[in-house]
Amino acid sequence: MKGLTMFLRLLFLAVILVIIVLCSSCLFFLVKILYVRRKYRHLPCPKKRSFIWGHEPEIAEVAREGGHFSMVLVKWQKTYGSVFAMHIFDKASVVCMEPSVVRELLINTKTSKPYKFYGVFQNACGKRLGGNGLFSELDNKRWERNRKILSPPFKRGYLIDLMYQYNNSVDELITYLRPKADGKTEILMADEFNKVAMDIIAKVAFGLNDLNVISNGDAPHCRAARHIFAGIMAHLVHPFIRFDPREASRNTVRKTQDAIDLIRKMGKNCILERLADMNEGRDYPNDILTHILQASSGLKGNFGLEEMIDEFVSFFVAGQDTTGQLMSFTYEIVGRHPDIYKKLQEEVDAVIGDNDSITYDNTCKLEYMNLVLKEVLRWAPPVAGMQRRSVRDFVVNGYKIPAGTRVWLSHYALGRDERFWDNPEKFDPERFREENNRRLHAYFPFALGPRNCLGQHFAMIEAKVVIAKLLQKFDFTLVPGVDLEYVNEIALKSKHRTPLYLTPRKTSSD
Ligand code: HEM
Repeated sequence: MKGLTMFLRLLFLAVILVIIVLCSSCLFFLVKILYVRRKYRHLPCPKKRSFIWGHEPEIAEVAREGGHFSMVLVKWQKTYGSVFAMHIFDKASVVCMEPSVVRELLINTKTSKPYKFYGVFQNACGKRLGGNGLFSELDNKRWERNRKILSPPFKRGYLIDLMYQYNNSVDELITYLRPKADGKTEILMADEFNKVAMDIIAKVAFGLNDLNVISNGDAPHCRAARHIFAGIMAHLVHPFIRFDPREASRNTVRKTQDAIDLIRKMGKNCILERLADMNEGRDYPNDILTHILQASSGLKGNFGLEEMIDEFVSFFVAGQDTTGQLMSFTYEIVGRHPDIYKKLQEEVDAVIGDNDSITYDNTCKLEYMNLVLKEVLRWAPPVAGMQRRSVRDFVVNGYKIPAGTRVWLSHYALGRDERFWDNPEKFDPERFREENNRRLHAYFPFALGPRNCLGQHFAMIEAKVVIAKLLQKFDFTLVPGVDLEYVNEIALKSKHRTPLYLTPRKTSSD
């Protein structure tokens, strides 16, 4: 009897303790929410639908209705101006659409990438993803050293020697698509562009010639990339997803972790094999991986095998979906503008003719394609926005943004802003002709400054080679009745995955 009384007492105490912990956590978060919101109360702020969740319910609703986050920013900008506060739970950020501030935030070497956003690219769903790779490195000193090592092979001069690998990947894609090019088989071209983008990174950067992602309908590596992006997105929206016992969350976490294991293992094998080839005097390609291994071989400490795998993953994460989407949006948009399509194809015929291989010089002559790609990057930027933490106070439109603020920069919103573009909803490549473009100070699809996109030349060469070769071989028509809608899955993507029909070109040499 005494034992039972003691047990009940202990139980009672435990319950009281749990209640106290829960109440103080709630109180702590309430005070934190109030404190954070007070700090930014001098700024315009869209109406919050929920005190606790702030603006999250509206963003989630737009996503459920087929919209995406950047569209919400554009809508809010119309009512609240180009600087406003945004709150999600206890996190505050400021959205800023003033190009001079955006420019300074990007160019200033002391600003940093905030952990609350980029930390998920380091570790997603409890697994090391890009770790200390360039994209997600938050320590400016370490990042600076690694960027110096990794930059040279991404310059034009280096990539010119690897043109044969770009050509190889597209040739494989053409062979794969040819039997489907009957004018009636529906092809989800976004998937094909994603596959070719992965194949090109694998080949050009890492000499991985036998991934077979193109001919293998749903290759494990492409599936893994999809799970990783879904996992990053889920983790960003739900930071505690790893501890969520619900079936759907557990599934997402498991798939993301397995996918990360697969990609990191692929990176590890690739690096170890290349190191063995180099050490044992066998032949090896002079590609980006070779450069990284040679440049980092003298460095002690922080650049071990795990860090090299981080870079491998970083390139896959930063370079695959983005370039795949650039090509996919180009087809979606050009397919809706017969005049632009005709001009593009005429240019390809004039520059490439019947040549089987596209040279770097050829890509430089594709001037109209360059304008089209630039306009696609304005109209539907695959990286729709970014974040930076400010290091000094700013005064924008009379409002003070205090140092240390997490600032949202939206390429998508800047690209749709009537202050900077005439008729921004119109898709018009001509606006990028030199004589017309006086407003490029609001255009940063590859970011600016020290942490700009390392792979921008890589991506532009890739898009030109792939699109030119496909236009040389096939005509295409979009499947009628399918609207261009977007989804935000880290990269901005076309929701319906660019369904189209291909037919062989009559003028084609074969
Ligand atoms: C159309 C294609 C692409 C677009 C629009 C794009 C855009 C961007 C943007 C906006 C950033 C800055 C992101 C931020 O700070 O949050 C970035 C960073 C980066 N991109 Fe790209 N990117 C593309 C393709 C590529 C490719 C093909 C690669 C590599 C093969 C690549 C590698 C990187 C890396 C490593 C970074 C981080 C750079 C650093 O912090 O030092 N990107 N990209």
